[in-house]
Amino acid sequence: MPSFPKPKIPDAVVPPPLRKPAKPGSAGTPKGQAPSDLKEPPEKKTAGDKLLEVGKEAPIDALGWVDQRLAASGFLTGMLFRKVPKGTNWFYTLGSATLFAFIVQAVTGVFLAMFYTPSATQAYASIAHINNEVPLGQLVHGMHKWGSSVMVILIFLHMGRTFFFGAYKYPRELNWVIGVVLLILTMTMAFTGYLLPFDQRSFWASIVGININGTGPVVGPYLSDFLRAGPELGATTLSRFYAIHMLLVPGAIIALIGAHMYLVVKLGTTAPPWVKAERPKIAAPTSQLEAGANGNGRANGDRVNGSDGA
Ligand code: HEM
Repeated sequence: MPSFPKPKIPDAVVPPPLRKPAKPGSAGTPKGQAPSDLKEPPEKKTAGDKLLEVGKEAPIDALGWVDQRLAASGFLTGMLFRKVPKGTNWFYTLGSATLFAFIVQAVTGVFLAMFYTPSATQAYASIAHINNEVPLGQLVHGMHKWGSSVMVILIFLHMGRTFFFGAYKYPRELNWVIGVVLLILTMTMAFTGYLLPFDQRSFWASIVGININGTGPVVGPYLSDFLRAGPELGATTLSRFYAIHMLLVPGAIIALIGAHMYLVVKLGTTAPPWVKAERPKIAAPTSQLEAGANGNGRANGDRVNGSDGA
C-alpha cells in the first residue's frame, strides 16, 4: 500500500507540553545557544526546603530500612493481595469481626486491670471506683462488659458461616478443630470474667455455673473442684478465676488465633456452596474423569482453595 507523507502539524495547535523544544539556530534562536527556557538559573533551595524533602522521604526510608532487615514485604504482599474465591460476601467478614472484638476486649481489659483489685474484700469497691471516679472508666468497663457478649455472638455466627459453607471439610478440618477450642476458650473467658466484680449476681451465677460443670461425665466433678478452688466459693475462687481470665486463657487464645490465621492464609477460604468449581484448564486423563476425579486429586465439584474460583 502506498504511504503518503504526513502533513506537518503547525506548532500553534500542538499543546505546549508536547511541543518539541526549538533547535539552536532555528525559530529565531541564535545558533549555538540553548533555548531560553533551559537557560533559567536553577531554583535555589533553602535549608527549610531541604529539611521538608528529607521529612517527606523519612517514612519510606524507615520502612525500607526495616524491610531490608526483615524481608517482610514479600510475606505481607502475599497475605494482603491473596486471591479470594468468586462469590465471597459479607458473611466472610464474621471471622475478622470476631478478631476485632477480641482485640477490643484485650485493650479494654488491660486498662481495667490497672485499676481492678482481685481481692474478695476490694474487688467490688475497685469496680465501683472504675465506674464512678476513673476518667472514662465507665465507658471502658461498659465496652469490656458488652464486648464480651458481642464476641460470643460473633463467634457463633462465624462458626455458623463456616459450617453452612462446608468450610470444615478437607483440607480445613484442623482449622475447624482449632476453632472449636477457640469457642470453648471464649466461653471460658466470659464465664471467668463474670465473677470478677464479685457482686451478688456474679457470686450466685458463678455458683450455678460451677455446679453445672460438676454434672459433666467423668471429669465434671474434678472440673468443678478445680474451678471452686476450695469447699466453698470465696477468695481463692476469685484468685483462680482472675488468673484464668487474665493469663492462662488469653495467652492460649492469642496462640490459637495465630495458628487459625496461618491456616486461613495458607489454605485460602472456601467458596460459597452455590459457586461451582471451574473445569480444570489441563485435561485430566479420561480414566480419572470417568472415576469422578478432576486431575488434581479432588472430587469434581470440590471447592478447595481461594485461588480456584478467582
Ligand atoms: C476467636 C475466635 C475466632 C477468630 C478470631 C476467627 C477468625 C477467623 C478469620 C478472620 C477467618 C477468615 C475469614 C472468615 O472466613 O471469616 C476464619 C476462618 C475460619 N474459621 Fe475462624 N475464627 C474464630 C473462631 C472460629 C470457630 C469457633 C470456628 C469453628 C468451630 C472457626 C472455624 C473457621 C474455619 C473452618 C475457617 C475457614 C473458613 C473458610 O475456609 O471459608 N473459627 N476465622
